[in-house]
Amino acid sequence: MKILQLDSNHPVLKERLIQLGFKVDDDFTSSKNEIEKIIGNYDGIIIRSRFKIDRVFLEKAINLKFIGRVGAGLENIDVETAQQKGIHLLAAPEGNRNAVSEHALGMLLVLFNKLKKADLEIRNGNWLREDNRGIELDGKTVGLIGYGNMGTAFAKKLQGFEVNVLCYDIKEGVGNEHCKQVSLDELQENTDVLSIHTPQNELSYKMVNKTFINRFKKPFYLINTARGSAVETADLVEALKSGKILGACLDVLEYEKSSFENFFDNNNLPEAFQYLINSDKVLLSPHVAGWTVESHIKLATTIADKIEAIYFPKESNQTEDIKRVTGIGGLFFKSKDPKKLKAWYQKHLGFNTDDYGCTFWWKDNNHQISSTQWSPFEAKTTYFNPSPKDFMFNYRVDNLDLLLTKLKEEGVTIVGEPESYNYGKFAWIMDIEGNKIELWEPIDRAFLT
Ligand SMILES: NC(=O)c1ccc[n+]([C@@H]2O[C@H](COP(=O)([O-])OP(=O)(O)OC[C@H]3O[C@@H](n4cnc5c(N)ncnc54)[C@H](O)[C@@H]3O)[C@@H](O)[C@H]2O)c1
Repeated sequence: MKILQLDSNHPVLKERLIQLGFKVDDDFTSSKNEIEKIIGNYDGIIIRSRFKIDRVFLEKAINLKFIGRVGAGLENIDVETAQQKGIHLLAAPEGNRNAVSEHALGMLLVLFNKLKKADLEIRNGNWLREDNRGIELDGKTVGLIGYGNMGTAFAKKLQGFEVNVLCYDIKEGVGNEHCKQVSLDELQENTDVLSIHTPQNELSYKMVNKTFINRFKKPFYLINTARGSAVETADLVEALKSGKILGACLDVLEYEKSSFENFFDNNNLPEAFQYLINSDKVLLSPHVAGWTVESHIKLATTIADKIEAIYFPKESNQTEDIKRVTGIGGLFFKSKDPKKLKAWYQKHLGFNTDDYGCTFWWKDNNHQISSTQWSPFEAKTTYFNPSPKDFMFNYRVDNLDLLLTKLKEEGVTIVGEPESYNYGKFAWIMDIEGNKIELWEPIDRAFLT
């Protein structure tokens, strides 16, 4: 089978596809018209955002069986036509949701603490302390609109900042232990920081406009890492001027092209944009929230995994004899004063403590270096929710995806969505006595680099 890769991606994607037996051609430069002439020869396409895959294109792709979008959504694809033609549509939001959540948080903290302004001032010889007094997230309400892949990742990332996290979503029942789902009215009543995580659709198009902004009870900060089209920039600027919006972190802008590239090719950037680039209340980044060293690899491997799952599905009996838990990965418990407690364990029991607790190193039966984490948590942590208990255990597992499949079949309650980091994959389940369990497919070496 032949695959055409239309944008450059991390080389691991092509390597994996070749290992699976596909023939992979790259074409990063031909025009869409030229690609349409040859697309009939291909069974699969890999694309980021180079051009729209519309009906005309799909009509010419007579052998196409799948489209792998190396990104979070499918908005540049005529999904309806593709589905009518039985084409598998694969996206990779699992690959960049952590990046987006860290970026959103990073932007907010930079704005709250005036770090960009302060840094520039010092470089210009100005040491202005009172002018650069920051504000804190602690105790604030963060309202998220859209609680899918990105929204849930951001809510998870906010744990530990002692904020109240609310979400509004057109889908019902999406709230979880990190975030309470509320009506739009309730969100607008309480929000101090609004973060947009909706895909581009009719409802979200220019959603953040004058009427919408004025429905917020308090002045608020805005974060947009979703799509520029969700915000009417002229109305945002008006609200920034009036103080209704206190500040804005914008990774995406209304004026971007659909490829998200070559922003400044447009010589007619409107007055509102001039305000944004001259305002201290605004922090901008060039659509890179999901664009990290790690997400580059994760997006590629997610698409390779999904293509593999279609063409080389795992035999169902593979789940029968999987190793389940292979060891204890962590002991987590609530403490009245974690700092003091860590000091006590260090002094009396020789624990080698750090900010997180203490990591014990050992070798498993295959002589692989392995670790177990011991961590006291603040008494008010919500990390063990929905369990009311004061502790949570983390168990090491061999193959988290297979184990989760098996656990789902067995009717075990899964809490939230699995998450991937450079130190392994995580998922959470409940046992029959209401204890929350963290499952971890570890990459222990990541702690040592
Ligand atoms: N800046 C970046 O680099 C970057 C990276 C990844 C994703 N994104 C963007 O983030 C956004 C969210 O992506 P995702 O993967 O979480 O999408 P998703 O489909 O997983 O989740 C979107 C959620 O929004 C809800 N929703 C849709 N329209 C809504 C509306 N009008 N009001 C309220 N809720 C609505 C849906 O029900 C869904 O739960 C997308 O626009 C995506 O393109 C940006």
